[in-house]
Amino acid sequence: MGEAGSLQARARPVGLLDSGVGGLSVLREVRAQLPAEDVIYVADQGHVPYGPRSIEQVREFTVKLARFLIAQDAKLIVVACNTASAAALYTLRELFPDVPFVGMEPAVKPAAHETQTGTIGVIATEATFQGELYASVVGRFAQGVEVITAACPEFVLLAEAGETDSPAAHEAIRRRLLPLAEAGIDQLVLGCTHFPFLKPAIQAVLGPGVTVVDPSAAVARQAGRVLEARGLLNPGARPGHVTYYTSGEVAAFRRVLGALLGEPVARGADVRAACWTEGDAALAAAPSAL
Ligand code: DGL
Repeated sequence: MGEAGSLQARARPVGLLDSGVGGLSVLREVRAQLPAEDVIYVADQGHVPYGPRSIEQVREFTVKLARFLIAQDAKLIVVACNTASAAALYTLRELFPDVPFVGMEPAVKPAAHETQTGTIGVIATEATFQGELYASVVGRFAQGVEVITAACPEFVLLAEAGETDSPAAHEAIRRRLLPLAEAGIDQLVLGCTHFPFLKPAIQAVLGPGVTVVDPSAAVARQAGRVLEARGLLNPGARPGHVTYYTSGEVAAFRRVLGALLGEPVARGADVRAACWTEGDAALAAAPSAL
C-alpha cells in the first residue's frame, strides 16, 4: 500500500473487464455516473477477439480476468462484455459468491417493447448468439416480435483499431446492416460493447427511422444500484482514479484510448501491462507495472 494508503484507507475499486477496448463504452458511463469510484479496467487484448472463440475458452479467460480483479480487491465487477457475460456470468457467480457481478445481455426487452414495425435487429458476436443467455432473453422478451440477427466480427476489429468513422467502417456497416434495414427493423440492439463506438456511423447509415439501442448507461446505473444496496458506494468526493491494464501493448492501448475516449483522457491515463503466465494459467500485473 502506498503513502496515501497509510494515511487513509484506500477505497476499494470497481473492476471492469473486456476482451479489449469495448468495455470502455461502459467505463465512460460508469465515470459519468459514479465519478468518485476508483476503477480498474482490464482489457485482454492478448486474446481479442473473443467472439469467434468457443464458449469454454471465453469462460476460462473471463474467470481468470475476474481473479485478477479480485486479487486487487475489486468490490464489484462489471463484466463489460456481452460475450464474456454469455460464457461465464453464471460460473462467476458460483465461483465467487461474495463478489457482486453486473453482467450484460443484449437489450432485446426495450427494443421489443418499443418496436412499431414488429421487427428488431440484434448485432453481437458469434459466441454471444450461441450462448444460453441470448436464447433465454429472446424467449422471455421477444414473444410476437421478429428478431433478425447479424454477427459483426469486423466491427470489433474496427473499434480495436480506433477506426470508428472511416470509409472502411461505413462500408462494413452498410454491408452488415442494410439487409436488416431492408427487412424492416426499426430498432437495432447493440449486443457487443465494442459497437457503441460505431453508433454515430451506424445511425448515419440506417437513418433516423431506426433507433439504435445502447445499454451502457443502464449497465452503469445497475452497477450504482448494486453498490448502493450493499453499502459499497465510495462516500468520498474526490474524482476516482482509473487504472487500465492490457494484456496487449500498452502504447497501442493508449493510442486507441485517445481515439475512443478523447486525447485528454488518454494523455494522463495510468495504463499498465498485464501478462499471462505460462500456458495462460493466470493473469498478473507485469513487474514494471507494480
Ligand atoms: N466486447 C465484446 C462483447 O461485448 C467482445 C468482442 C470480441 O472480443 O469479440 O461481446
